[in-house]
Amino acid sequence: MQDNHFYVTTPIYYVNDKPHIGHAYTTILADVLTRYHRTQGQKSFFLTGVDEHGQKVQQAAEKRGLEPQLHADEMAPRFKTLWQRLEIQYDDFIRTTEDRHKRIVQLALQKVFDNGDVYADEYEGWYSVAEERFITETEMQSGQFRDVKKLKEKNYFFRMSKYQNRLIDHVENNPGFIQPESRRNEILGFLRQPLGDLCISRPKSRLSWGIELPFDKDYVTYVWFDALMNYISAMGWGSDEARFREWWPVTVQLIGKDILMTHAIYWPTMLFSLGVELPRMIFAHGWWLTGDTKMSKSLGNIVDPLGLVDEYGVDAVRYYLMREMVLGMDSNFSVESFVKRYNSDLANDFGNLLNRVSGLIGKYFGGTVPQPAQRLVEDEQIQDFASRTLPEKIPDLIGQMRIHDAIEQTMALVRNVNTYIERQAPWKVVKTDLARTGTILYTATEALRIAAVFLSPVMPEKTRQVLDVLGDDRADILWGGLKPGVQLKAHEPLFPRIETEKT
Ligand code: MSP
Repeated sequence: MQDNHFYVTTPIYYVNDKPHIGHAYTTILADVLTRYHRTQGQKSFFLTGVDEHGQKVQQAAEKRGLEPQLHADEMAPRFKTLWQRLEIQYDDFIRTTEDRHKRIVQLALQKVFDNGDVYADEYEGWYSVAEERFITETEMQSGQFRDVKKLKEKNYFFRMSKYQNRLIDHVENNPGFIQPESRRNEILGFLRQPLGDLCISRPKSRLSWGIELPFDKDYVTYVWFDALMNYISAMGWGSDEARFREWWPVTVQLIGKDILMTHAIYWPTMLFSLGVELPRMIFAHGWWLTGDTKMSKSLGNIVDPLGLVDEYGVDAVRYYLMREMVLGMDSNFSVESFVKRYNSDLANDFGNLLNRVSGLIGKYFGGTVPQPAQRLVEDEQIQDFASRTLPEKIPDLIGQMRIHDAIEQTMALVRNVNTYIERQAPWKVVKTDLARTGTILYTATEALRIAAVFLSPVMPEKTRQVLDVLGDDRADILWGGLKPGVQLKAHEPLFPRIETEKT
């Protein structure tokens, strides 16, 4: 991959159900990272999509009395619609039933087979229907698996065990490969046990909905072998080598912690066998919980992102999800915490700052941005925070995947500016010193403008409105981008307070 490239992926979501806030979270995160890297002048690519094969999807289709393809054709657009509503700007949306993907999965299977990394075997073991895989005796005894049955059948196996040591070396020598640290340790711990081989086929007699094995037409491909391949099939592996070389290895693969094993163990060993470089980083975030349990369809506690967007607007939802979750940890979703965050950060701090500066400039300068005069130390502190501290800190925080901290730093600037306005009290100063009043309001407005630029990957719509009010079409983070003499545009309150019922 070329140095100035940024390539990010999300998991491809099963089309067995409509998307919920957990799926929305990973996708928004990828979008925020992509937008951020674009503002940094990096060539960026954001891949998402849907996982359409396998037992879960087949069962969901059966339940609706539909052919799986028809079911998938109906479900896939729901994801696209949601992403559009959430202002997600992906570059490609891959469906695993597309020809461009199926061909490449078959090519990869044949390659792995020709390498001698695939063998057929009669296997008897515990099979978890929910997990769609054979589980080990130890896993069986853990009692954590529902829907388990004893199965005996001939299948094809991928020699995953052959790559165990190479994988351990890679994880040990590349501390950034699996993130966060706790997940890396989990994988290293898991790799201390002997690694088995991976069953990569399903007999058609049991499951027909999948990609046929190129070397045995009575079998389809195990859904994970198929799905993981999307990350390279969409980028031209096996079809457009120049494009693939331009973008691979992927910069960051975002996943939830529920799919760590498949991404940190199956996937790298598959790539070893194919002779493809490993991803730079696999980052596993935590879960959104409601109460103390994971949000999931089967538990009936899912939060519908569209409902939230309808009620509170897309940017507020994006902001809440990005600000509230410490990447890598679980987070609790509740409407109360959403409303609290909205009112304090967005209504009281950010939205209010725009109201104040535009109100005061309207009142004292006829709505025209004043020329700043001589600066005092208080003004310099604000300028310093906006034009030195933030540009220094934000790239590091984003690089360390501390998105909530990057947002918090920017909001600290917003809060400082609100305090600065109160202390400087331009409504008093104006009685004696109009030039000084102009400096105060210029400083506050310029800091707001810079905060809006830094927040733009998270809240693309509202920050665009702020920049529009301030007559800024360049969104530059250099101090002085706000032009004296510009007429501010009229605007509505950015984030009207949410009134909660008083009990
Ligand atoms: N199809 C597989 C992934 C294949 S990737 C090659 C799959 N799909 S899924 O629809 O179940 O979505 C899984 C992903 O959705 C998780 O890894 C995570 O990114 C996101 N989330 C689903 N529920 C979630 C929460 N409750 N909280 C946070 N994210 C969660 O697994």
